[in-house]
Amino acid sequence: MLSEKEKPELIELPKITDLRGSLTSLQGGVDLPFEIRRVYYIYDVPPEMTRGGHAHKYGRDIVIALSGSVEMTLDDGVKSTTYTLSAPDRGLLRPPGFWITLDHFAPGTVLLVLADTIYDENAYIRDREEFLKRH
Ligand code: TYD
Repeated sequence: MLSEKEKPELIELPKITDLRGSLTSLQGGVDLPFEIRRVYYIYDVPPEMTRGGHAHKYGRDIVIALSGSVEMTLDDGVKSTTYTLSAPDRGLLRPPGFWITLDHFAPGTVLLVLADTIYDENAYIRDREEFLKRH
């Protein structure tokens, strides 16, 4: 599994700015390398809370901090990398196969997630030992 693993990638999102402010438009298959099948957002997270704590067997998404900031750590079972998401024109492309941790939520943070799969609890590994056995 390790050898086939796609790499996470921070990507710059298109941004149209004029005197009235900025607009970012994301088209599935055009601005993103997949078709969007699900949209969700995470908000009202108390600053001391940690989310995530799972990995995905399949499915990719892009995570964008529409406001505020958060630290997102992706761990492949050997090496972990922490990304700070703090701008609405930056997104983290998250491939399957990584243990995810989200913490250090700034007050007022809104995280937008655009995913290429519909929700399926069977796609999750929520047990850390099980994740490590597979990697
Ligand atoms: P959870 O995976 O714990 O969130 P996080 O990744 O931020 O830690 O999901 C919280 C709850 O929401 C859990 O009961 C599953 C449910 N859920 C859905 O119903 N649909 C979804 O698309 C997602 C991502 C979660």
